[in-house]
Amino acid sequence: MKSLRPIHVGLLGIGTVGGGTFEVLARNQEEIMRRAGRGIVIKMVADKDLKRARKLVGKTAKVTDDAFKVVNDPDIDIVIELIGGTRIARELVMAAIANGKHVVTANKALLANYGNEIFAAARKHRVMVAFEAAVAGGIPIIKALREGLTANRIEWIAGIINGTSNFILSEMRDKGSSFESVLAEAQRLGYAETDPTFDIEGIDAAHKLTIMAAISFGIPMRFKDAYTEGISKLTAADIRYAEELGYRIKLLGITRRTPKGIELRVHPTLIPARRLIANVEGVMNAILVKGDAVGPTLYYGAGAGAYPTASAVIADLVDVTRMHTADPENRVPHLAFQPDRMSNVPILPMAEVETSYYLRMRVYDKPGVLADITRVLAKSKISIDAMVQKEPPAGEAHADIIMLTHLTIEKRINAAIAGIEKLKVVVGKVTRIRMEQLGTS
Ligand code: HSE
Repeated sequence: MKSLRPIHVGLLGIGTVGGGTFEVLARNQEEIMRRAGRGIVIKMVADKDLKRARKLVGKTAKVTDDAFKVVNDPDIDIVIELIGGTRIARELVMAAIANGKHVVTANKALLANYGNEIFAAARKHRVMVAFEAAVAGGIPIIKALREGLTANRIEWIAGIINGTSNFILSEMRDKGSSFESVLAEAQRLGYAETDPTFDIEGIDAAHKLTIMAAISFGIPMRFKDAYTEGISKLTAADIRYAEELGYRIKLLGITRRTPKGIELRVHPTLIPARRLIANVEGVMNAILVKGDAVGPTLYYGAGAGAYPTASAVIADLVDVTRMHTADPENRVPHLAFQPDRMSNVPILPMAEVETSYYLRMRVYDKPGVLADITRVLAKSKISIDAMVQKEPPAGEAHADIIMLTHLTIEKRINAAIAGIEKLKVVVGKVTRIRMEQLGTS
């Protein structure tokens, strides 16, 4: 084999993931080189915190606080973008591409929002943009979807793709605690950010889901069309009731091919407790992928953290290193499908999605209440699968009624909920949580 000079890498951001990448690359240098066929050397590091960066890097690489110096340096072949955010990161990635450099990024927000323009620019400049670390940290799900399952017509994906919210839900179920108290604890332990909005409101999960949908169905990034609902309104009571009915509540990202369009939705979801994915606890991630040939497949692992994410970043570095000298036409397409064979099938509006539901309503415990509620459901053609009534505590007039519905369409449930909330016997709002069986069909 011809001996090539080592590939030169510029690292933008040496925080948690950047530091992990630097360390793992040094630690496993020999093993990685045997795989990649040539050395992979970090030549330049950019970080705002120069002192910390110098301490981590020592004399092995140049350190700068100007990331543009890295993307404009002719000696750099691959830029790793670990800065995060979508403003400067976008400028840097576009500049790196324009300069003919390959890019490795863990930035899901950037790709979900600006991936279409980024990949178009990458094609124009004949470079690769690799993003294994952007979805589910260390789990090689991009590789699996883009290459391992390439024979399949992917039918649907359902994933626990946000560790922070999974940790919160696991703790709420284990301890019966409220959302607020677990979030505060998670922040104290450093699991949740000071501003946890992206994690708890499903936005981070929707970014990752958008990317997975693109490479599964050969569609552009459609983050703006994703339906996003987080976990901040879930109560310990709903988690307990779901458990009593044989279900767990997870924040799922679901994307599914249907004859009317592609579902792209993130929301709390009841799933049967006996499913493997229902038992994914704490900060771990898991993704269930249904392909027509392979059937259901499940991928599990750490969705974040320095070393797991470094594992994905370095896998991309090796991939890019191996394909560096290949013609762009012979590389794996960025979004799995050939760019001139992308589909413009629409994203299905949430109101048209078909699923089943958990409904909880607080009612006056008196004759005729159930009849009133079931009349409203029947009017919307909604069929009830199971029902329980929780007796009011002594001295209280209100009971909880929990109903599980058969499959129906979201707009029918919306109409039924509006009707139920108007009933005089019903107190306050109806709680609605979607439900998925995640079986083999
Ligand atoms: N904040 C994410 C999570 C990890 O909680 O899973 C990075 O995407």
